[in-house]
Formats: sequence, C-alpha cells, structure tokens
Amino acid sequence: MERKVPTAVVGCGMISNIYIKNLKNLFSIIDLAAVANRNRTAAEQKAAEYGIERVMTIDEVAADPGIELVICLTPAFAHYDMIRRMLEAGKHVWTEKTMTVTVDQSRELVALADAKGLYLGSAPDTVLGAGTQTARRALDTGMIGEISSGVAVINRNQSLNAETFTFLRGNGGSLPYDVGIYYIATLISLLGPVERVHAFGAPAKRHEPEFLFRNADAEPWIIPGSNVLSASLKFASGALVSVHFDGNTVNAEQHNITLFGSRGILKVGDPDKFNSPVSLIYAGQPECVLPFTHGYDGRNTLAPTPFDFYGHRGVGVAEMAYAIRQGRPNRCSKEYGLHCLEILEAMERSAATGETVSLTSCFEGMKPLAPGYYSNFGNGRGDAEMSLVHG
Ligand SMILES: NC(=O)c1ccc[n+]([C@@H]2O[C@H](COP(=O)([O-])OP(=O)(O)OC[C@H]3O[C@@H](n4cnc5c(N)ncnc54)[C@H](O)[C@@H]3O)[C@@H](O)[C@H]2O)c1
Repeated sequence: MERKVPTAVVGCGMISNIYIKNLKNLFSIIDLAAVANRNRTAAEQKAAEYGIERVMTIDEVAADPGIELVICLTPAFAHYDMIRRMLEAGKHVWTEKTMTVTVDQSRELVALADAKGLYLGSAPDTVLGAGTQTARRALDTGMIGEISSGVAVINRNQSLNAETFTFLRGNGGSLPYDVGIYYIATLISLLGPVERVHAFGAPAKRHEPEFLFRNADAEPWIIPGSNVLSASLKFASGALVSVHFDGNTVNAEQHNITLFGSRGILKVGDPDKFNSPVSLIYAGQPECVLPFTHGYDGRNTLAPTPFDFYGHRGVGVAEMAYAIRQGRPNRCSKEYGLHCLEILEAMERSAATGETVSLTSCFEGMKPLAPGYYSNFGNGRGDAEMSLVHG
C-alpha cells in the first residue's frame, strides 16, 4: 500500500464541495488534512461541514512541511499566483481548469514544476470517468477503425450564467474557456495531440442583469474574448475535427462529440459528465449504447449533497497522488493542461488574425486507465481505485 499523500484544498467555493466530499470518502491515497481560503470563514464552514481537521491560512499551507500536495480551487484568473507560490514552496499542485488564463503563464509554471521536480496536475479529470474511458476503450480496440474526422458542439447562454457565477465575467469566463475546455480535453485524451488550428470567432453580447439573481446595482458586463468559436482542428493522427462553441444562445444545451471512423461511428456523450452514455453506430444496425468498461461513473451512495451532479471530480488528484508515490507520470498532467489551453488560445488567435496557428506544446497523449474496475458498489468506491494504482 502506498503512503497517503497529505493534502490541502485552497479555495473553498462551489466546486470545493464535491472535491472535499470525494477526496475524504472515495480515495484511500489522499489524506485531506486542511482547507484554506482567502476569506477564512468560508474555509471554516467547509471544515465544519465535511469534518476537516485544520483550517489554515494560505501562508500556513505554503510553510507547512507536512502538506505535500495543494489543490487549487480558486477562480481561474487567480490560479497563476497560487500555483507559482505553492510550487516555489515545494508543493505538488493540482489545479482546476483552466491551468491559468494565458499560455505564457502556464508555460512558466510547467518549467518551474520541471525545474523543481514537482508534479503539477490539471483538470478536467472527467476524462478519467467511465464515459470517456469507455470511448477510449472502443477506439483502442478498433471498434470504429481509423478515425478520419469528428465534430464537437456545445452551446449555452454564458452571459446569463455569469449572473450566478460572477467569476465568468472576467478572463477565462467565456464559453470556450469555461466549458469548451471539457470538449478539447476529451478530444485530446481520445485522439492525442493537435497540430494545427484555424478558427472564426465572435464576442459575447453586452449583458444587462436580467434574471433571478439580478442585483439592481450591478453594471452591465461583456465577457472578455470570443464567446462563439467555430474551428477546424488537425490532429497529429490526421483526424480533422470541427469544433463549434456558442455561448450566445439560450440555455438549451445541445452537447455533442461524434467521431467518424472507417468501420463505425462513436458518439461520446457529454464530456462535462462522468457517466454520459457512449454509443456505437454501424452501417445498417440500430445505434447501440456500450456498457461502461470502467468505474468512476459519477454515482455514489454517500449522504447526498446538492453538488453530486459534479460526479467523481477529484479522481485526477488521486491518480496524481499514486503517480507521486510511484514516481511515474500522471495522466492529467501539466503537459495535458497546457495543451488544452494552447488549443483554446490558438482558436482565439486564429479568429483574431485569420491565420492558421501551429501548436508547439508537447503533449504526447494520455494513457488509458486499466479496464474492468468499477465504482458502483461500496459507496461509489468499489474496486475502481485499482485502476488508478496501475501506472
Ligand atoms: N462552479 C462550477 O460549476 C465549476 C465546475 C468545474 C470547475 N470549476 C472551476 O473551479 C474553480 C473554482 O470555481 P468555483 O465555482 O468553486 O468558484 P467560487 O467563486 O465559488 O470559489 C472560489 C473560492 O476561491 C476563493 N479565492 C479567490 N481568490 C483566492 C485567492 N487568491 N486565495 C485563496 N482563495 C481565493 C474565493 O474566496 C472562493 O471561496 C475555477 O477554476 C472554475 O473554473 C468550477
């Protein structure tokens, strides 16, 4: 048995609920020792709610030699400072997406982690869930043959959503960065690295506060960057994928990832979920939903919370913790996080300049998890953690 990794969560907002619940209950490799937040009251509330022993300041987390791993759950625009600080303090770091809000910042952090011999892992870890891993198994076992192309589509009303999630009004809050990253992450975990990108884009509209959460004093806002992006991605494998992100629509999400192959077609489902069904289409046959080949399907039988629809978030942290103990690469690696961001930024740059952008980051693909381990018994643990133990 590997020694547990003493861990602290920094940033006690919305997403911290599911991380703390899962990391406390589902992964034996993690010792969730402390929580910290800029505003201490939020950390104290989480500690009381989830039974975490220590509430610390950010300075105390950085200075404590007992904390080996820090999970950064602050808003994306605050990631760079926090990750840099914790790496400089000698901590391994896991960060929520996007790693930072610019590729230059992420490159700097990747170089810093390399120089210090530390792990830096990055969300999305939904790619380690039952849906995407089953899709990967289907591809790896040749079920649809050689993949020539694909489509990835997501739409939302991002400006309206920014009434609730106020951090969406800042850098990193556009639909491509906030949500499109799940589609990019899933595509590269299935198909490997992207070589070239060409895109067209359009900005978000000016948003007048208008809905349930209206604050009479709130000023209108415009989410920065392109809120609509239509792009072509050329993968190193040769596959051509059309990406369509539109944050200027109504909130009637029509998510879709479909991969077209020489023997069949695979529908991958919603990459923001751990358990979205994966289905197979062969010529002249009815569409067929595949049984999941992996665990981490987002379900657990622990005491329910309003955050359970976030599924098995935290699985990437646990996988990284095993990698730390075993001295091997982790799957949701810094190179993966950087490549996701570089693709998004390349789409923005291509849309702004009209040029086709070549990518330079060196993501070499993601190793699939071992199949045949499931989490649908034992409170949502089952024996699925064994799939994380295998390097
Ligand atoms: N909310 C979601 O649905 C969701 C889903 C998946 C991923 N994420 C990602 O998780 C991260 C956090 O999102 P959230 O929804 O929990 O945000 P949130 O605004 O609810 O919480 C962020 C927390 O970080 C704290 N914080 C801000 N700056 C800080 C700093 N410099 N030092 C310490 N604490 C600081 C805030 O006080 C707050 O408690 C973001 O990267 C987001 O993209 C969010």
